[in-house]
Amino acid sequence: MKNLAFLSMILFISVVLFSAFSDPSKKESKQKSLLDKKVDELLSQMTLNEKIGQMTQADIDALKGHYEDIEKYSLGSILCGGNSEIEDISAKGWADFYDMLQTHALNSRLHIPMIYGVDAVHGHNNVTNAVVFPHNVGLGATRNAKLIEKAARVTAEEVAATGMDWAFAPCIAVARNEHWGRTYESFGEDPELAKLLGAAQVKGFQGKKLSDKTSILACAKHFLGDGGTTTGKDQGNTEVDEPTLRKLHLPGYKTAIKAGTKTIMVSYNSWNGIRMHGNKYLLTDVLKGELNFNGILVSDWAAIDQLEGDYKSDIEKSINAGLDMIMIPNPPGKENNYIDFITLLKELVNENKVPISRIDDAVKRILRVKFEMNIFENPLTDRSLMATFGSKEHRQVARECVRQSLVLLKNENKTLPISKNVKNIVLAGKSADDIGNQCGGWTIDWQGKSGNVITGGTTVLQAVKNAVSKNTVVSYSKDGSEVKDADVVLVVVGETPYAEMFGDKPDLNLAKEDVDVIENVRKSGKPFVVVLFSGRPLIIEKQLKDANAFLAAWLPGSEGAGITDVLFGDFNFTGKLGHSWPKTNEQIPINVGDKNYDPLFKYSFGLKY
Ligand code: GLC
Repeated sequence: MKNLAFLSMILFISVVLFSAFSDPSKKESKQKSLLDKKVDELLSQMTLNEKIGQMTQADIDALKGHYEDIEKYSLGSILCGGNSEIEDISAKGWADFYDMLQTHALNSRLHIPMIYGVDAVHGHNNVTNAVVFPHNVGLGATRNAKLIEKAARVTAEEVAATGMDWAFAPCIAVARNEHWGRTYESFGEDPELAKLLGAAQVKGFQGKKLSDKTSILACAKHFLGDGGTTTGKDQGNTEVDEPTLRKLHLPGYKTAIKAGTKTIMVSYNSWNGIRMHGNKYLLTDVLKGELNFNGILVSDWAAIDQLEGDYKSDIEKSINAGLDMIMIPNPPGKENNYIDFITLLKELVNENKVPISRIDDAVKRILRVKFEMNIFENPLTDRSLMATFGSKEHRQVARECVRQSLVLLKNENKTLPISKNVKNIVLAGKSADDIGNQCGGWTIDWQGKSGNVITGGTTVLQAVKNAVSKNTVVSYSKDGSEVKDADVVLVVVGETPYAEMFGDKPDLNLAKEDVDVIENVRKSGKPFVVVLFSGRPLIIEKQLKDANAFLAAWLPGSEGAGITDVLFGDFNFTGKLGHSWPKTNEQIPINVGDKNYDPLFKYSFGLKY
């Protein structure tokens, strides 16, 4: 009898032990409580100054000459804004700079490492010779989540190679009005694209495990309704009822949170007159409560300054609304604005205007992410990652993205594909040999820059020369006046680089220079193909009629060969419009599902060979 009791006890203990260790959910909750223990442990040692320091994200231009402030205030995060740069913007230059900043952070009293954020929105676009991917308007046309995840994985490897920890991407705006200057940062007008491709980018950036050396933090942005403002005004007012706001702009955040995004950036826009950075209902009740977002909610660039009232009331309102970390550049004429932030928030806590529980919640979110990244153990750049920076393999992924982003709008008399043995091909148009126009905004400079000095890559002209037979004559006539010997003319035109509010444009007609070059080529009577570089659909009805073939190439980035891969028939067109293509400016906004929907090309349109 005794043996039986003994045996059943052994059996019971082993079952309990086995289930405790084998049941993944139990294992997970075990890890979670371990993590929370570490966070609580560290939090308990922190002074109020150090806690607020962790909530501070200072821009590198504001820190210039005061790097010791990083340890003095135990700054939690540092960023380089669109135009904040250093002397040496090579990958090594940035890695050395990162390690210098991190060394200061590690010198803080509690040695808490900082996390560094950068707008790696289409590759590691701040760094010379990084692989520059198509902007999201082109990635949206691929509809290919696996490819987009792979592209984000490559970007993560190149960001991590410079030490940096955090990409301010994906932008999951649902751009509803193409007059908006940030249309190209959005995957398209349908929330289905934000859901599908936003989640893919989150997974690509954050990898299998956040502690892996090439994993970086994703940042779903800009919450909420950035792409829905009236007239498409950047940082404007999104005037819709709550069901519409939820139907169009919230789905991408649900899938991004499900995909595990560790950070979300708040949007400048207002919703029905209330600025998002002061909207406690959406930031806390909806995002953190209903959607159960437990990561870091970060502000946009000096966005809290736009709240009514003085800086102190801006801080009170935004932190109490649910912001955990504030992005702080120096406003013009001000020094060390981040010190004012720390001083004023400390006052607010001491005056009981911001509860310490709100501070502790924010700091716990920040510390939890830092522990999950294992950054305490690996705070400095892993220099082995430099080996694949800008590599052929990485460029191949971008080239595939370019191929799949192209949308064929017209191809009469099988003008395309062009034979590689064509005797004489002439390229025309301002963007045929211009890497700056090919990449668009957010490339080295915030606004980007036309010309071939901005960064490395392959222009369309170079790609054509590499693609055709050795007997083919290739020439370039920018204004399209020298085409008399051509068998076919390739006219590459479109938008010149811009970013954010500088891209807000009421008139989306082609620039006169582009209209003129197309007219010159039309008058020659030669068959011609128009390749359009743009961050959005433009008004093209007349030029579409004149051209024999016409394709939207969006803002393809550094790998121009992805375009010739398709033009010469090595690959077929697969791209589909992520936007309804308007006939006229007056038709905008025009979106799939509208009543009397009559665009030039419908959402999801795209021809094939
Ligand atoms: C900008 C943008 C945001 C970007 C941030 C940092 O103003 O709105 O998308 O991540 O500032 O550069």
